[in-house]
Order: sequence, then C-alpha cells, then structure tokens
Amino acid sequence: MTVTEAMQTTVDYHERTKHQPHAYARSLGYLDWATQPDPFRRFQGAPMLPLAHPPDSDAPAYDDLFVGSRPAQPVGYQTISQLLFDALALSAWKEVAPGNRWSLRVNPSSGDLHPTEGYLIIGPTEGLSVSGAVYHYAPYEHALEQRRALTASEWEAIASQLPPNGFLIGLTSIYWRESWKYGERAFRYCHHDVGHAIGTVTFATAVLGWRAAILDGPSSESLAVLLGCHQQRGIEAEHADCLLLIAPRATPATASLELPEALLSRLQQAPVAGHANRLSHDHHEWPIIDRVAAATSYSGRSDGPPMPMVTPRIGDSSLPHREVSARRLIHQRRSAVAMDGQAWIEERTFYRILGRVTPEVSPFPYDALPWRPRLSLALMVHRVRGLDPGLYLLVRHPSHLAALRSSLATGFLWRKPVNCPESLPLYILAEGDAQRAAEVISCHQAIAADGVFSLGMLAEFSRSLEEGAWMYPRLFWEAGLIGQVLYLEAEAANIRATGIGCFFDDVMHELLGITDRSWQSLYHFTLGGAVDDPRLKTLDPYFHKNMPR
Ligand SMILES: Cc1cc2nc3c(=O)[nH]c(=O)nc-3n(C[C@H](O)[C@H](O)[C@H](O)COP(=O)(O)O)c2cc1C
Repeated sequence: MTVTEAMQTTVDYHERTKHQPHAYARSLGYLDWATQPDPFRRFQGAPMLPLAHPPDSDAPAYDDLFVGSRPAQPVGYQTISQLLFDALALSAWKEVAPGNRWSLRVNPSSGDLHPTEGYLIIGPTEGLSVSGAVYHYAPYEHALEQRRALTASEWEAIASQLPPNGFLIGLTSIYWRESWKYGERAFRYCHHDVGHAIGTVTFATAVLGWRAAILDGPSSESLAVLLGCHQQRGIEAEHADCLLLIAPRATPATASLELPEALLSRLQQAPVAGHANRLSHDHHEWPIIDRVAAATSYSGRSDGPPMPMVTPRIGDSSLPHREVSARRLIHQRRSAVAMDGQAWIEERTFYRILGRVTPEVSPFPYDALPWRPRLSLALMVHRVRGLDPGLYLLVRHPSHLAALRSSLATGFLWRKPVNCPESLPLYILAEGDAQRAAEVISCHQAIAADGVFSLGMLAEFSRSLEEGAWMYPRLFWEAGLIGQVLYLEAEAANIRATGIGCFFDDVMHELLGITDRSWQSLYHFTLGGAVDDPRLKTLDPYFHKNMPR
C-alpha cells in the first residue's frame, strides 16, 4: 500500500465509522451470544509460571506518583508480580445471580471485552527464568506463560540497547473481541483500550519507582516476531501495537530500539511455545478493520538519531497532598453505570483534575508518549461550584491554541475563568446549560448530562495523519492515556468516571463549529457522583484461584 493509499484508507475508515444520529456505524445490531469471544487468551502447552499476589499497601500515596521522587525497587519476581497485578490483572467479579458473573480488570475496556494482551520481555531474573524470555501475561490466573526462551546472545542484542535493569512490556490487540459487539467502529475502541493499558502500566511502574516509555523503532511486523504472534492468522490473530521500555525512573536512556535483522530471522524460525486457544467457534467478518489495520501498521523508524528518553520532570506539587494509597485507587477504579445528577465538585478540585491532564503542568504520565501532545479537551461543565455552567476548552499544548482558534466557530468568548490558576490554559467558550447537548452528543446516554462535567477529546487530526497513517491509532492511545488519568483522578476526588466511546462525532464538531478534519473528537468522558446498581454483588478478583476454569 502506498503512503497515499494508506492515508486515504484511514480517512475513509474514520469517516465511515462515525456514529450519526440517523445511522450508527455498521455493526451486527444485536449481540450474537453464541459467538461471544473468550476474554482470556491462553497458549495451551506453554509452561506457566504463577505470579505472587501482592497485599494491599498504603504507600506510595497517589499524589506522590506525580512528583516522581520514589526510590526504584529492585527488579525481581515480587516486583514483576506486583507490576502486572497493578497494571493488567483482574480487579473484581460482578455477579447478578449465582453463576452469572463477569470479571473486571485494572485496565478498563470498552464493553468489558478486553482486546488487549500483555507481554513481558525480560533478561535472566531470579524467580522467573535463568535466561532471557518472552512471556504472555494471563490475567485470569495472574501468571506468565513462557512463549520464548532467549539465548544469552539474543537477549544481549536487546539488552545492550536498554539501560541497566531495563526490560520491556509489549501490547497487542485482538480486534475480533470488540468487533463481535461493535462491528466496524471496534478498531477505534481497541486502540482506546491500548491507551488505557499504556496508562495502567505507566502508573504501576511509577508505584515501583520505575518509569515507562513507548519505544520507537521496531515495525509492527518485527514486534509481532519478537512477541511470537507473527504466525497467528485469521480474525482471532493478535496485532502487535507497542513496546514499552521499563527502567528505573532516574535512568538517562534513549527511547529507541532496533531489532537486528539476524535476531529477527532467528526468532522468525524458532518455535514458539503453546497454541493460541480458540476464542469463538464462529465469526462475523469486518473486512474494513483488516484494511485500516494494514494501512496504519508501523513500518519502523529508520531516519534520524534515536529519540532521547524524556528526562523525568517534577510535577506540580503546590496542591494539598492527599494520603490516599495509589494502589488502592488503581484496584478500586470502576466505571460509573449511572450518575446521580446531584453531586457537585469544588472549583479547586476541578482545576486539580485538569492540571493532571495538562502535560505542561503534570508531565507524568504523558512523558511515556514519544510525541508532542496532540489532544485538547472540550468540556461541558454542569456542576462545578463557583464556575458558570457552559462550554470550556482546555488547551493541552501551547501549539494547539492558534490552530484551535482558527478552526473553532468565531464568536466564542475565549475568556479565562476568574479563579483559574495561571498555569492552566482553560478558556470559557460559551456560558449556558450544556447538559442536554452532552447527553445527545453521547448517543443519548444520560451519564454525560448527570455528571459534574463531561468532555470530548479533540485530536489535531489532519496534521498528525500527514506524518503517516500509523499516527491514527496513536491518537487513540493518547486519548486512552488521558482517560486513564481521568478515571484515577475521579477516584481520588471521591467521584467516579466513565469512558464514552459512543458519541455522534459530527454533532460534537458542529457544536464547536469545526467544519473540516483539522480537529476531530476521538473519545468522550464523564465524571460525577455514581449510582451503584444494588442488584450486583462484588466478588474478590481471585476468589476462583483454586477452582478449575
Ligand atoms: C474505550 C471505552 C469506551 C467506553 N464507552 C462507554 C460508553 O459509551 N458508555 C458506557 O456506559 N460505558 C462505556 N465504557 C465503560 C466500559 O463499559 C467499562 O470500562 C467496562 O464495562 C469495564 O468496567 P470497568 O471500567 O468498571 O472496569 C467505555 C470504556 C472504554 C475503555
């Protein structure tokens, strides 16, 4: 596919999968329970290594993660167990009636369908392996499946490019898990979910005094070879998304990796342990997803010097410190299924939340992304004490301001709220009740109107795609990462959040006066006072530990 064809395929996909009030993006239109995919990938026959279940801990406090001063823990069996437990494990089971239950995870997923799979690539580590190895993470068991043992020279070819004690986490997506329910729009949701998983990995590493950063370099194809999913075929195949370098927080390093040709050709030939389980006995094909996946796959960066790993910066510590445990918030995070339409938040709480999604104010966790921030936020404020309800704009990067001012409708106020901190680039665009607009735009979902505020994430769309169609999924990763911060910030403020993937794209654009593809809304969110469903019972995440599947 030429660069132009890839770009056209991507833009066509984006346009075609917009929800419109008169026509939702193509899907089956009903849930075919007979083909519901298994949410747990397993590699039958691969050796399985159970991980430790770390107990709750009060330290570190959630707010400390943004200051970044924690000493790095040693890399070993216990800390790797904790990392995966805090990033990708189960967080609870919900039960409506005995035997009728579903699991939730630390990393949220659209429709709880969990297309994202996690991999660990690490050198010889006490308690794990005497050699370097590639593992698949199995969340149901909280265990590692060893897919590859790396020879000393194979691991050295990778490790020589990493900082001391550095290792890797890879993420892949199984599009079928989402397309089973959501049809053509599923490709977008899979990449939101990747962004959320980048977020959970980043927070879990920060708890251990480490940092995570997406590594530039390997193409999608060579990443698949490294992870051992290059031989998977068909609709249940995993697609290699990204590789994260995990290293002690203070390490100066480069965030780039080259997988040498000799290593790749050896890995291509080498057997991979275990056979992927079948997820559904039958499928519905969505060929447009294969086309956009091919168009947006990454061919690897070959030009220019390796990108320097962003030096960790210190976040804004001027706000009152809260002692709430980071790990407790990580595991208690849930989506609200309904909002009460009553709760209010204080203006300073609102500004704290917004500061945490503004990279200039809070570089963590956005320093995990090796690109300039591409998303700004259009907020519909309903119940923030001291602040007029209305439409607001948070400009997440200084380079966005002029472009947004020229793309949005003329006649907006562009006024900073009176009490807004100097450092926060927040503008009121229009005053007035935005509840009805929020609900309609979010596919008539009342949670968007009944929260304290909701928002749409505006991506600098055309300019980003000009760099390459591979930027398209990355825009969703950035959106998912922002979403993960909103989820945790909501928990820290004693409210709750919900990601909203179902929204009428162009109705949002009309509200803002956007008439072209310079900016596109890619993900919506709502925060507010949650109403729990009393019919649901919550069970411990690993209550099933000693029961057969
Ligand atoms: C990308 C994404 C899109 C979502 N879209 C919606 C939505 O439109 N409406 C909704 O009620 N919930 C939505 N959710 C919430 C999910 O349904 C929820 O994350 C999932 O059921 C798992 O529950 P948990 O977040 O409590 O772990 C979305 C979540 C994600 C990650």
